[in-house]
Amino acid sequence: MSQNKSKPAPPGAESEPTVAAGGGSAWPFVLLGVVLFGCFLHVENTGGAFRADVYQAGMKTPPPQTDEPEDVKLFKRGASVYAGGCVGCHQPTGLGSPALNFPPLAGSDWVTREKPDRLIRILLNAVEGPIKVKDVVYDNPAMLAFRDVFNDYDIAAVATFIRGNKEWGNGAGFVTPAQVKAIRDGTAAMGSQKWRVETLEPIP
Ligand code: HEC
Repeated sequence: MSQNKSKPAPPGAESEPTVAAGGGSAWPFVLLGVVLFGCFLHVENTGGAFRADVYQAGMKTPPPQTDEPEDVKLFKRGASVYAGGCVGCHQPTGLGSPALNFPPLAGSDWVTREKPDRLIRILLNAVEGPIKVKDVVYDNPAMLAFRDVFNDYDIAAVATFIRGNKEWGNGAGFVTPAQVKAIRDGTAAMGSQKWRVETLEPIP
């Protein structure tokens, strides 16, 4: 030891404790390692790589809102999808803006018809060309295709939100992610091509 060179310690005495001098064992560290590894395994097995969707599923005590019916969860999620992806054109009221050539979703038969098959297609690939909504013809290529933007769940959610939005006077049934997936897969060959009213009308 360097400080012992200038002032030698009496034989047998140590000026500072060291791990070896303390006679300490390595076991506490081994034990700590085992415990930490156990924690790591637990997080690895149940954490779902911290993805919010998986993480919820792996939790032992699910948050209360998971008891809500599926359509209520879809509707709530749909409200935020709408706020992020649609509200700028179709407006918070769902009335669109006739002056800017944005059609309404409130009271639109494209939205509230019994089967959601046309609506899902419109959300996946958009629609262009003249379209009559509540007796007014709109013709504006601005509608966006959401095939590559939203997953099946979010498309089902926003469809559920606009179909069942009572504040807008809409009261149609909810849409499931499985319905979206079936149409997404069935129309994959369309790529980024948009629908036109003529190609949607044969769909029930
Ligand atoms: C950039 C503006 C814009 C955005 C964003 C947008 N739309 Fe549209 N949307 C339009 C336009 C314009 C049309 C009419 C297209 C035409 O003229 O053929 C339309 C048509 C529609 C229609 C069919 C006609 C009707 O009014 O019922 C539906 C349904 C629809 N949009 C739903 C949505 C939903 C849901 C979202 C969000 C996920 C969305 N749109 C986002 C502009 C937009």
